[in-house]
Amino acid sequence: MIERLLAQARSGLSGVLVVRGEPGLGKSALLEHAVGTADGFTVLRGVGIESEAELAFAGLYQVIRPVLDRLDRLPAPQASALRSAFALSEEPIGGRFPVSLDVLGLLSEVAEERPLLCVVDDAQWLDQASADSLVFVARRLDADQLVLLFAARSGAARAFAARGLPELRLGPLGTKEARALIAGRHGQDVGLEVLDWLLTTANGNPLALIELPASLTPRQLAGQEQLDGTLAPPTSVEQVYLKRLERLPPQARGVLLVAACEEAGERATVARAAAELGLDPGVLSVAEAQGLVGVGRDRIEFCHPLMRSAVYRGAGFAERERSHRALAAVLADPGDADRRAWHRAAACRRPGARHRTASHPGAAPVDAGDRRAGQQLDGVGVIPVRGMHEDLLAVGLAL
Ligand SMILES: Nc1ncnc2c1ncn2[C@@H]1O[C@H](COP(=O)(O)OP(=O)(O)O)[C@@H](O)[C@H]1O
Ligand SMILES: [Mg+2]
Repeated sequence: MIERLLAQARSGLSGVLVVRGEPGLGKSALLEHAVGTADGFTVLRGVGIESEAELAFAGLYQVIRPVLDRLDRLPAPQASALRSAFALSEEPIGGRFPVSLDVLGLLSEVAEERPLLCVVDDAQWLDQASADSLVFVARRLDADQLVLLFAARSGAARAFAARGLPELRLGPLGTKEARALIAGRHGQDVGLEVLDWLLTTANGNPLALIELPASLTPRQLAGQEQLDGTLAPPTSVEQVYLKRLERLPPQARGVLLVAACEEAGERATVARAAAELGLDPGVLSVAEAQGLVGVGRDRIEFCHPLMRSAVYRGAGFAERERSHRALAAVLADPGDADRRAWHRAAACRRPGARHRTASHPGAAPVDAGDRRAGQQLDGVGVIPVRGMHEDLLAVGLAL
């Protein structure tokens, strides 16, 4: 289906597809596959981020940032709505409709040169303004050699509403495919009883099929040791991850939580914040050895976005608050003001006790800007998207 869309785009036709399915069914993998096969395409990508779902136009900005320089090629009255949208106003001057028109104009302009592929993953977490604009564009595609692919979770609290757009609903793997996936990963080393258990428990979810064996000992996996009764079937992949987290030493869980709170995945920042909490960042190697995270020179990456949410949601509010606060404390650089504000705001997102940052015992003083950001995070308005300032400066604040 996706290949057909790409082929059509090469011959000048546009297309759109919304891939839907539960976590772990392969939506991101499918988008990656599309990107991998889009030879000769300009590729623009964006991903909805849970904690940025209230930041108007954050998602859209991610997608079109690489082509913002083409705004100059649009007729002058056009581009202006888009420019004001990125000046971080909730309701841009002129409203959302002109912004969407500008986005359409901009993407069409880019697609004039070469076919264009836009992929947006985790679209359920796009901020509403971005989702509306992108869906608007998707509804008006015609002969533009432009392909728009969205992936969105089904069954999530937040949905990506895109009525009328063509959908591909991913379902579970059949038994044959599931067996092939297990064989591909673990060869013939899987005991028969284990194979049955895996197939039943994972229920055709590829991610669960990949992750469940990690909850077994090598002897259990090989069928040399009984599966004990404690292996109650997890009801979701997130629970599989939670189970794996339970076996980590508390220190390692603490550092992982800091990493889960630090959306940018900066290793140095996580290490400093962990130290601030009296945790040894080195214990992360335990989690790395178990494949829960990858630790690169500069970045820490979770093995799957669901692992990050398992870590985050699995922790209590107080622990999350402490982590966010530690991150705010180490992001002392003036250039990090927006990230610092964001963490302080996140730290006080407790239902019914939202803005207690200043009164919290031992809390650092909150300046007015931080407090404003905290209030705005609750959906009243917008806080700056981290990284956005610098980027805007780079393309010229005159935008
Ligand atoms: N059809 C499939 N066959 C084999 N592996 C798959 C398949 N679909 C997904 N996977 C693997 O399952 C894991 C979860 O897929 P992912 O794309 O992250 O799911 P989603 O984005 O829907 O949550 C990835 O490691 C992916 O490579
Ligand atoms: Mg995904």
